[in-house]
Amino acid sequence: MYHKLKKCLESVRKKTDFQPETGLVLGSGLGDFADGIDIRDVVEYSDIEGFPVSTVKGHKGRFVFGYVDSVPVVIMQGRVHYYEGYAMSDVVLPARLMGMMGAKKLFLTNAAGGVNENFRPGDFMMITDQIATAVPSPLIGPNIEELGSRFPDMSEVYSLRLQEVIRRSAQECGIRLQEGVYVQLTGPNYETPAEIRMCRGWGGDAVGMSTACEAMAARHMGMEVCGISCITNLAAGISSEKLDHKEVQETADRVSADFKKLVTRVIMDM
Ligand code: HPA
Repeated sequence: MYHKLKKCLESVRKKTDFQPETGLVLGSGLGDFADGIDIRDVVEYSDIEGFPVSTVKGHKGRFVFGYVDSVPVVIMQGRVHYYEGYAMSDVVLPARLMGMMGAKKLFLTNAAGGVNENFRPGDFMMITDQIATAVPSPLIGPNIEELGSRFPDMSEVYSLRLQEVIRRSAQECGIRLQEGVYVQLTGPNYETPAEIRMCRGWGGDAVGMSTACEAMAARHMGMEVCGISCITNLAAGISSEKLDHKEVQETADRVSADFKKLVTRVIMDM
């Protein structure tokens, strides 16, 4: 796997020598953010040898390199999901690659279902912790010694320092911010009401099909991580409405101006 990562890095380095400080992953329906930054380079995932390419509608597949204000960033416009059939080590390859490009900080975003009954569609939830036990760990297999240790500590996956930055940024932007625990399940099906009750019993506030594995891989290699979920819908069983991807995209579209404002502010201050 390390060999594959190095090959991918070489492939990227043939196209750009841009040095990012921060990596940003844009979730479902939130990809527009990358179009509005000061873009310096774009590398399509399909042009990177051995790179897993996403198949989900509404997900572009490319790295965008550029500046948010004066901060050099690399943005994943579209991510790879476990439910697409990739090994978990491939799902987290792009996040690891951003770390290997030089990004010391990783900002994860996603669309998620609200498990906490106080949440409303369109809310932003700062991720304070995560539950990843329902999906295979991306660290299973021979440990990549070059990246991190066999048994990495996960007691502060989401940096307390960056959580404070997000709180302050939201306040400055006048954007209401929820906080909570993100539960990753495999998907691609939405959950049953019983599964959502289980998530709530576990202590989860939002549920989705990404992010926690990436956060874990990033922490393994010592990156500083933060995350925001866009609560696009109430999770199954909370309202009588059926869940579909269209609602997820519509909500993400509706809040995209606030999302851009908040993400920009956070990147400038992190
Ligand atoms: N469940 C899982 N993933 C999701 C949801 C959901 O309700 N909404 C957006 N992503």
